[in-house]
Amino acid sequence: MRILLATTNQGKIAEVREIMGERLIEVAGLMDSASTEEIETGLTFAENALLKARYYHRTSGLPTIADDSGLGVDALGGAPGIYSARYGGPGTSDAGRIARLLDEMKDLSDQHRSARFICAAAVVWEGGEKVFLEEVQGVILKEARGKNGFGYDPVFFYEPLGKTFAELTPSEKAEVSHRSRAVRRLAGWLSDSGLLDTPRSDDRIVTTAD
Ligand code: IMP
Repeated sequence: MRILLATTNQGKIAEVREIMGERLIEVAGLMDSASTEEIETGLTFAENALLKARYYHRTSGLPTIADDSGLGVDALGGAPGIYSARYGGPGTSDAGRIARLLDEMKDLSDQHRSARFICAAAVVWEGGEKVFLEEVQGVILKEARGKNGFGYDPVFFYEPLGKTFAELTPSEKAEVSHRSRAVRRLAGWLSDSGLLDTPRSDDRIVTTAD
């Protein structure tokens, strides 16, 4: 069976590969993308993941996996939340978004810097759809640490390993991240569901727009 992974985000592609393994994923190429903002009109991570997966299932005809994820800071009422990728406005880089976040949080003491990464992973196929929601807890540091990962990883401190997400190796992040938890549950459900029981020689996951 071919499954479409609806993202062009290289960080996410690498992570989903790490989580699901080469057995399921062979990146076959990119397809045209619609504007993410036109598709992600929902008010929750789950809605947006489903909207993305439905959209690319409709346009490709393939069973499609999509995720929607972001950072929720408790003291900011869950912001940036579903707007994590757009935080700071158009043209802002990951570093710019981190700078904005640290500025918003500059008066918060260590006890008030708790946050979570949240991920909804959805799969949509001819016969139905399913979504899995997972999160991981952390603390937002006052300055960035580490070079790995992407997005807000350098300021997200994960207490059980004593490192920021940007200091984790790819395999450590694949063990503990919100995305790995959601995608692993989805992958487990997919293999139990029998949807993957009809392998073909050209089985692969291809990628398209985020
Ligand atoms: P999405 O592509 O709409 O799911 O946007 C997710 C945004 O949330 C990303 O652009 C990042 O800013 C942030 N984000 C989600 N997952 C992670 C992660 O694992 N590490 C760091 N930032 C993340």
